[in-house]
Amino acid sequence: MRAAEAGNGLRMNIDLSGRRALVTGSTQGIGHAIAAGLAAAGAEVLVNGRSADRVEAAVASIGGANVRGVVADVASAEGCDAVSEAAPDLDILVNNLGIFGAKPVLEVSDDEWRRYFEVNVLSGVRLTRTYLPGMMDRGWGRVMYISSDSSVVTPVEMVHYGVTKTALLGVSRGFAKAAAGTGVTVNSVLAGPTHTGGVEEFVSELVGDDLPWDEAQRQFMREHRPQSLLQRLIEPPEIANLVAYLASDLASATTGGAVRVDGGYVDAIVP
Ligand SMILES: NC(=O)c1ccc[n+]([C@@H]2O[C@H](COP(=O)([O-])OP(=O)(O)OC[C@H]3O[C@@H](n4cnc5c(N)ncnc54)[C@H](OP(=O)(O)O)[C@@H]3O)[C@@H](O)[C@H]2O)c1
Repeated sequence: MRAAEAGNGLRMNIDLSGRRALVTGSTQGIGHAIAAGLAAAGAEVLVNGRSADRVEAAVASIGGANVRGVVADVASAEGCDAVSEAAPDLDILVNNLGIFGAKPVLEVSDDEWRRYFEVNVLSGVRLTRTYLPGMMDRGWGRVMYISSDSSVVTPVEMVHYGVTKTALLGVSRGFAKAAAGTGVTVNSVLAGPTHTGGVEEFVSELVGDDLPWDEAQRQFMREHRPQSLLQRLIEPPEIANLVAYLASDLASATTGGAVRVDGGYVDAIVP
């Protein structure tokens, strides 16, 4: 029997028609690719960022009547309120927002620790608290947190970042338990080194900018990320593909998990 014919007869195509989705921090990078992926699968998608210009540009670049924007700093309680005013109910919540930056751990101040916690962890916790009860009442929902390989391999140059990504694994497992048996799934997605604007600059700094991009990134991976089995950066739509799958009916039995799309970077069999 082919996989597409197995089980309850669902075919292996991802149809999110009628589902209302929010992707936090989606004016660029991985969030933008996730918003585009969910929209392409038919969901009504809310793109989010802090400025009207960038949100409008992102909505226009994705295109389609099913894509709208919400301008809000979701790292704050006010931003969360603004989002819930724009979208009182959601079926799919993708907590993608995350900031990162290198700094020796001995130099990270209390304020900076708090800022990383507020932006990377509390933003998603607050939105989950806002939307999970409605999903549970309706008997269907998908909550995801975009975590990182750094959640299990703490990077010495950004311990404060890695710690927030580790926290998300516990947060998602905990909310999954709270939603047990309701038809709502909650998972974290462990993304690996991905080709985004910030990472492109980082690659140029380390290997120079005289090589063609493909060669430069392969050299970067060989020299600085040798654990990667993919041996190249991940493209943002490759992360979006996993998120779209987890957002769909097809992934109904995957919950409380940490699902990897890291190019095999984390040298472990589980998670
Ligand atoms: N890049 C990687 O290699 C990598 C690897 C593993 C995991 N990840 C994770 O993937 C996620 C996305 O990373 P990325 O590299 O794609 O990020 P990015 O390129 O830095 O984009 C960040 C996005 O967040 C928005 N943003 C920032 N602060 C915000 C706030 N307070 N409220 C609302 N929006 C805000 C930005 O929009 P505006 O500036 O327009 O507000 C932008 O759209 C993060 O959680 C990151 O930890 C990334």
